[in-house]
Amino acid sequence: MHNQYQNCYRDFPEYYDLLYQRYLKSIPTFVELVSSHTPSERAILDLAAGTGEVSIPLIENGYEVTSLDGSQGMLEQLRQKAETKGLRADTTVQRLESLSLDSHYDTVCIRQAINYYMGMKALTGGLRQIATVLKPTGTFIFNAPNFLENAKKYEDSEHRYEEGSKKAVVLERNLLEDRVLTHQQDAMIWSDSEPVIHLKEENVFYMFTKEEFEQALTEAGFSQITFLSSNGEPYQKDDKTIYCIAQI
Ligand SMILES: C[S@@+](CC[C@H](N)C(=O)[O-])C[C@H]1O[C@@H](n2cnc3c(N)ncnc32)[C@H](O)[C@@H]1O
Repeated sequence: MHNQYQNCYRDFPEYYDLLYQRYLKSIPTFVELVSSHTPSERAILDLAAGTGEVSIPLIENGYEVTSLDGSQGMLEQLRQKAETKGLRADTTVQRLESLSLDSHYDTVCIRQAINYYMGMKALTGGLRQIATVLKPTGTFIFNAPNFLENAKKYEDSEHRYEEGSKKAVVLERNLLEDRVLTHQQDAMIWSDSEPVIHLKEENVFYMFTKEEFEQALTEAGFSQITFLSSNGEPYQKDDKTIYCIAQI
């Protein structure tokens, strides 16, 4: 019954910030990591930039940011948010798998989206393309879930959110088959003045281990590769999330 599911990025990007609040908590850590590895006012490419939760604070920090995403609707949300803050956003609609960019960047970053490369071949190919848009001294930074062979359970969960007058209840279900994680959400959204909207959506990811990221980065030409925990300390094997900083 997969075809009854929509996709938030494609079908209702205006509800992304409301329905995905629990995944936005680590934004300041990620923005700080990118800022601390990028000299002032330099050029940053934010891949799979979504609604701009990373791009906008980086623009506010004085960087020249290009925000790339496969979804026109998500980038429209980004542009609206930037405009509200009086900021200029530079956006481009492109797929991660086929980057076409004329510029070279001091930093390329990708938060919570590298798992859209569906397998090792796609990941290595994507990283090769990323290497070509980095300046020779540039830095590539990403975070991702740390897939551990012996801890395969991804729990179902339930969440309640409020944003302005809007309220939402979200039921999250995760199905892992081999390395492919299917994430499904059933959401109800309402406000005092609007009727209930019921949304069902699905996202599919490929789960990589830290060793696989290391292998793909090396094959793509990266040589200085550092993994960190979410608190900035050196990587520990039970970390739920991996942070990675890599240079050619
Ligand atoms: C979880 S959101 C993350 C957004 C942003 N990086 C953040 O941290 O807030 C994932 C984003 O990846 C984009 N995306 C998914 N697959 C993609 C692909 N193959 N090419 C380009 N963008 C993609 C979606 O449109 C969505 O905006």
